[in-house]
Amino acid sequence: MLRRPRRLRRTPAIRNLVRETHLHVSDLIYPLFIVEGENIKREIPSLPDVYHFSVDKLEDEIKDLQRLNIEHVLLFGIPHTAQKDEYGTVASDPDGVISRAVRKIKEVAPDMCVITDVCLCEYTSHGHCGFLTADQLGIDNDSSLEAIAKVAVSHARSGADIVAPSDMMDGRIAAIRKALDKEEFADVVIMSYSTKYASSYYGPFREAAGCAPSFGDRKTYQMDYANAREAVIESELDIAEGADILMVKPALAYLDIIGSVKANTNLPLAAYNVSGEYSMLKMAVKEGILSEDVIMETLIGIKRAGADIIITYFAKEVAEQLLYGSLQRKN
Ligand code: PBG
Ligand code: ZN
Repeated sequence: MLRRPRRLRRTPAIRNLVRETHLHVSDLIYPLFIVEGENIKREIPSLPDVYHFSVDKLEDEIKDLQRLNIEHVLLFGIPHTAQKDEYGTVASDPDGVISRAVRKIKEVAPDMCVITDVCLCEYTSHGHCGFLTADQLGIDNDSSLEAIAKVAVSHARSGADIVAPSDMMDGRIAAIRKALDKEEFADVVIMSYSTKYASSYYGPFREAAGCAPSFGDRKTYQMDYANAREAVIESELDIAEGADILMVKPALAYLDIIGSVKANTNLPLAAYNVSGEYSMLKMAVKEGILSEDVIMETLIGIKRAGADIIITYFAKEVAEQLLYGSLQRKN
């Protein structure tokens, strides 16, 4: 036989030589949940092995990430319920939980790339990502933009390297870029949640971040999961408005979307391996139903589909494997 594909699979060294897709620790972004309060490091029930941290407990965690060579974190803030209001005002408080966390991380680890999630839903009493309309039944697009841009500026002022708006209001990238530039944060990067679907896979996150909407759902602003072409339109709009990095979210039921956004755009592309995707696999591995090799297989699949960057709650365990060996090693 002239063509024997098995020749290239005979030994680990040959397989490594012809491997098309590689996962590096520098591809990974690790999400961190920061809560108000003191002396808190508490496991999140819906996300096994992921914790709520108060700002004073961040230092040890950041050092652990440095030990693993993880150099990008994505911060989510969880205020006290009493701090929430209809407008999510506390989201841009210079002494709010995110601003204090950013300053703390930059103090402990100046080289750590600090990315902040920019949204209102963790801070609004109603749990939606924007302001309510006058009749209180819907989410108003244009009146939300200024508040969202203000949140981004407050994070930049605290020292964030990258702001990541996840609200899905139309025009928010332009509003944020304009506000950042006006305040002399022209160098702050915008990683847009450009293609974000209305997904049940966010369930564990909403429990962790206390941001489930108190009425209705997010379908008037997040995308319909049946739509693929719309992902390219959303990406093109965000490019035109000044986004630096694009994103597809969730990842696993959306690998085709990652592929098509990659094929039709040229900015770096992130994929968010979201909470529900994490918890499904994590629980199956914990129960012994699946081998932990499934984690690497899944993340490589996301890269192979076209992602340059992966946001994942698995970042620490994958970094551990990459550092100390096992799955990717010649076994
Ligand atoms: C808030 C936000 C959500 C996620 C990231 N930012 C939830 C939502 O939009 O309802 C989901 C992340 C995850 O599930 O891991 N806008
Ligand atoms: Zn939100």
